[in-house]
Amino acid sequence: MTEQPKKKLFIKTYGCQMNVYDSERMAEAMGGSGYERTDTAEGADMILLNTCHIREKAAEKVYSELGRLKPLKTLNPDLKIGVAGCVAQAEGEEILARQPIVDMVVGPQSYHRLPELAAGGRAAVLTEFDEDKFAHLPARPSPTRGPAAFLTVQEGCDKFCAFCVVPYTRGAEVSRPVARVIGEAEGLARQGVREITLLGQNVNAYHGADGDATRSLGWLVRRLARIEGIERIRYTTSHPNDMEDDLIAAHGDCPELMPYLHLPVQSGSDRMLKAMNRRHTAESYLALIGRLRAARPDLALSGDFIVGFPGETDADFEDTMSLVRAVHYAQAYSFKYSARPGTPAAERDPVAPDVADARLQTLQALLAEQQAEAQAAMVGRETRVLVEKAGRLPGQLAGKSEHLHAVHFEADLPKGEIARVRIVEAGSHSLRGEAIGG
Ligand code: 5AD
Ligand code: SF4
Repeated sequence: MTEQPKKKLFIKTYGCQMNVYDSERMAEAMGGSGYERTDTAEGADMILLNTCHIREKAAEKVYSELGRLKPLKTLNPDLKIGVAGCVAQAEGEEILARQPIVDMVVGPQSYHRLPELAAGGRAAVLTEFDEDKFAHLPARPSPTRGPAAFLTVQEGCDKFCAFCVVPYTRGAEVSRPVARVIGEAEGLARQGVREITLLGQNVNAYHGADGDATRSLGWLVRRLARIEGIERIRYTTSHPNDMEDDLIAAHGDCPELMPYLHLPVQSGSDRMLKAMNRRHTAESYLALIGRLRAARPDLALSGDFIVGFPGETDADFEDTMSLVRAVHYAQAYSFKYSARPGTPAAERDPVAPDVADARLQTLQALLAEQQAEAQAAMVGRETRVLVEKAGRLPGQLAGKSEHLHAVHFEADLPKGEIARVRIVEAGSHSLRGEAIGG
């Protein structure tokens, strides 16, 4: 019997790591229908846009991308085109109405319906909340998997920060049951995965069912650390108010939990934090950082910031700069506020765009300085690097340090090995090191 040639699936992923994970799971779901992933839209039998709605003009960007794909559909009328992710959830049926080349619109909770949608006519499937949407997707067979993998444990958000669409597009907080998470992590470990990054929009609000008990993220981290082969654990993204004692303690006493934490604060001004509905103050955030650093003194911190939130004055912005100076971030992401329709902040008067632009530049200069300092401080230090792939030069390997620095070094080691490396040079985005010992 001759084997059917595989059909080609191209997925374009926008936005966060959660979408990267979802794209993988969608590809796996379509694997059962004879599709394999390809790197180009040209020649694909199916194209999925896995969209993000978090900032500006997201829907418009998707419509213009769809416009660019139109000629491919003319060339190949059998080509299936789908829109997935948060823009799909927000726009729904409207996408089918506005763009005739689209066959399927599928919200983030409904990816298990993809094979059935691909086989049928034009349709939209939106929110169908479920205890664990991934339970409907096939197990994760991926012989080409690298040694570091994402694993979604939680989705959605109940925080309703005044600027943010996530509570509307991803819905309320849902945690996957403990047994499913452990099962998936064990499967990944059997495939050679050494490092797992637990994902959730509000990952530290995880409260997964375990029989009659409910387990926290701190508990889950310690449990996953016991799996044979899993040597490193990370998690992202966290809200300061969900940083519970056992999770903070795990940073000090669970060696598998890596010393890097993404803990967005958004602003250093209490007035802005209140207007943003963050429900914490700059002081409480700094106190939390103090407790985390007491548990793990070399903890590297990363954050998210928004400048130009409605009503932000020069003094509010100065408070953000002071907070950044107090924390010393190893890495950070900063954005100009963008009004998202349907969110409370969108009703308020915006800050003048040139003022917001200037603040963004000032903040980014300070954050870049701190990042460069954190990179430079690594020179001469020893770290452990998980070998993920070949480096840019022959004989070079590339991977991540415990503190999530990208590191290149020369050695003859297989992927998945954790190497002792001394850092000899710091660039702006990566470090160069030398392997130590055998
Ligand atoms: N405008 C600008 N930045 C935003 N973010 C979320 N919503 C908005 C918005 N409307 C940023 C926040 C969040 C990150 C993922 O994106 O900083 O932490
Ligand atoms: Fe959005 Fe994060 Fe706030 Fe939730 S906690 S509303 S995801 S910014």
